[in-house]
Amino acid sequence: MTNQISEKYGNTAVILGGQWGDEGKGKLIDIMSGEYEIVARAAGGANAGHTVYVRDPVHENETKKFIFHLMPSGMLYPNVIGVIGNGCVVHLPTLIDEIKFLKTNNIEVKGRLFISNRAHLVFEYHKIIDGLQEERKGKGEVGTTKRGIGPAYGDKMSRIGIRAGDLLDFERFEQKLRLNVTTLQTMYDFDFNVEQEIEFYRGILASVKPMIADTGALLNKANLEGKKILLEGANGTLLDIDHGTYPFCTSSNASIGGICTGTGLAPSKFTAVIGIMKAYMTRVGAGPFPTEQDNETGEMIREKGGEFGSTTGRPRRCGWFDAVASKYSADINGMTGINLTKLDVLDSLDTIKIGVSYKLNGTTLESFPHSAEILEQVEVDYIEMPGWKTDTSSAKKMEDLPPNAKAYVEKLEQLIGASIDFVGVGQKRDEMAIK
Ligand code: GDP
Ligand code: IMO
Ligand code: MG
Repeated sequence: MTNQISEKYGNTAVILGGQWGDEGKGKLIDIMSGEYEIVARAAGGANAGHTVYVRDPVHENETKKFIFHLMPSGMLYPNVIGVIGNGCVVHLPTLIDEIKFLKTNNIEVKGRLFISNRAHLVFEYHKIIDGLQEERKGKGEVGTTKRGIGPAYGDKMSRIGIRAGDLLDFERFEQKLRLNVTTLQTMYDFDFNVEQEIEFYRGILASVKPMIADTGALLNKANLEGKKILLEGANGTLLDIDHGTYPFCTSSNASIGGICTGTGLAPSKFTAVIGIMKAYMTRVGAGPFPTEQDNETGEMIREKGGEFGSTTGRPRRCGWFDAVASKYSADINGMTGINLTKLDVLDSLDTIKIGVSYKLNGTTLESFPHSAEILEQVEVDYIEMPGWKTDTSSAKKMEDLPPNAKAYVEKLEQLIGASIDFVGVGQKRDEMAIK
């Protein structure tokens, strides 16, 4: 199966979340990594939670669930090289825990995981500030993952951030860290034991140093040598700081631009841009969600789809597929193909709705609104399609899908304006129908 994928998508394929995150990126990245040599993260941090179900590397005949927060999702393959690009914000304690967890599962990443020297670091105080910023917003809170993402990107943009490469000169690193804390304490009221933080970093220095590299140079060299590179998007396009539902979004470019700035690979190198979209919509945290079903339907999808956050465990809000938002996302990213996931979750429904246009005060909107306030007010026009009421989990090809399921997929394809190349019909690697 995997040969088919890289022949189709070429040497430098990008995988992006097409909705509000948790579309199932981890699964496709894991599948494709069987054929690619390098898997690189470009943006976001430990706010991401990418789930992969595979045969247990320790206990044969059992299935094991891995959730990757910072570690590229392709690392389960022993020859894959992992890169955490310059656009990411890295909480090293989380990464170290992930390295240890993989080790207990017989997976060694030593010598094959690289962190960009330009990637900014997330410290414990960024998490504290994340909480304080949310408190200050009161009812307008974003519902962040409290992983310190916004404050770390804030420091980056204010040019007071500390980068992984700073660890290489530890004396200067200490100075920068002390200065960063005192600067932030003038803006936020918090206590922080900076000496303890410095000692933690001194303790991990020897193990982290060999991973710090010029990953932009590494990726460009690999690209020139014809190596196969997979670029792993995190979060989702509707959470993008520019194109998403601002301010209910994350603090980085989760869409295609973030892949370029976050790795140092130019757009002309990309051979495919694959969008991952669920067969319905979900969202964690606050913010507008026009097709949300805060009712029995939403509850059914949540239960059947196991829609609980991979990072925070929060119940995900669920709703019908929103073709307006999803087409917007496909256009922003120039998606060349789509992986529609979790079709199986809809298997038992009598009818399925698709949101096809938005109206504001009776007038149909021409484009996806820029404002969260407007998006909160829109009325959605739906079309309704018959369900298939058949178990799809064994479908391997698009033709194997029941006719009504195929019709649903083709309708989405037509509405989004991009080809749906794969349809996910279950959590495991082989539960996928291919066009
Ligand atoms: P990511 O953040 O985009 O990688 O997605 P998450 O891992 O946060 O959430 C997606 C969830 O859906 C995970 O639990 C996956 O195992 C699961 N999943 C992915 N594809 C499918 C599918 O086609 N069918 C079903 N039932 N589950 C899927
Ligand atoms: P993956 O990669 C789903 C959401 C948070 C919150 C908002 C801002 O697993 O798809 P942040 O902590 O980034 O400042 O939170 O963005 N969010 C995600 N939702 N999946 C993600 O990542 C997310 N990353 C951030 O829930 O609403
Ligand atoms: Mg996730």
